[in-house]
Amino acid sequence: MQLDQVSGEVAVTAFLFVSDLDNTLVGDDNALKQLNQLLSQHRQDYGTKIVYATGRSRKSYQELKARKQLLDPDALIASVGTEIYQDEGNDNPDPAWSEKLLGGWDRDLAVATAAHYADLVPQDDSEQRPFKVSYLLTENAALEVLPLLKAQLSDRGLDVNLIYSGGKDLDILPRNANKGLAVQFLQERWGLESTKTVACGDSGNDMALFSVGESRGIIVGNAQPELVRWYEENRADYRYLAQAYCAGGILEGLRYFGFLDG
Ligand code: GLC
Ligand code: MG
Repeated sequence: MQLDQVSGEVAVTAFLFVSDLDNTLVGDDNALKQLNQLLSQHRQDYGTKIVYATGRSRKSYQELKARKQLLDPDALIASVGTEIYQDEGNDNPDPAWSEKLLGGWDRDLAVATAAHYADLVPQDDSEQRPFKVSYLLTENAALEVLPLLKAQLSDRGLDVNLIYSGGKDLDILPRNANKGLAVQFLQERWGLESTKTVACGDSGNDMALFSVGESRGIIVGNAQPELVRWYEENRADYRYLAQAYCAGGILEGLRYFGFLDG
């Protein structure tokens, strides 16, 4: 049996498993298969909850799910934390969560402000959501554009989250929205503590996942430089940088923290 390096307990109770999809859970099909078996057994035996926290819209998630072997999650956090779906059959995101995002959000003003920057190239329509405006932005241009955009948005009274991921994607979100805050909402709903939560990710939009109380965090071995840099500046014994890639790195981290003994 593996021991939890942080709490010293063996994880034979339910935990909350949260994972990003692209280049974290998805990317190594063999390791994913092994991880799925262990997680679905743990869910059956102990009531462990499985949550996906992706930057993708629900539509884009469904396209991925049609191609890859993904377990049905207990909840889907989509569009970088701006939408939560608990019921596969319901097309509408959780209204209690959406309501929390309204404060200070002015989507039209965010779009109009971003329109001043030729370097910001709008992403596909499917990725533009009520609480998320997304662009492509090269790393070089980002150095100049991000500080200017940030200042201009705030001059116009817009209090937003700017999230830059993978050296190419820029998301403008309401101040109260990110993947981590969405996880916190589910923890409260389900009565699960942060120490019984493990979150996994590989890029900038996952930083918030590693900032929810003392949730255990697994940064996969193939993580983007922006996240590795963040990890190095924010080291804690409840954050682990794996060597293995994608689902292989998740398996490595789950064993390190003692969540799985298989
Ligand atoms: C996903 C989304 C995209 C977003 C990116 C980073 O790729 O489809 O809209 O910008 O994640 O969060
Ligand atoms: Mg990712």
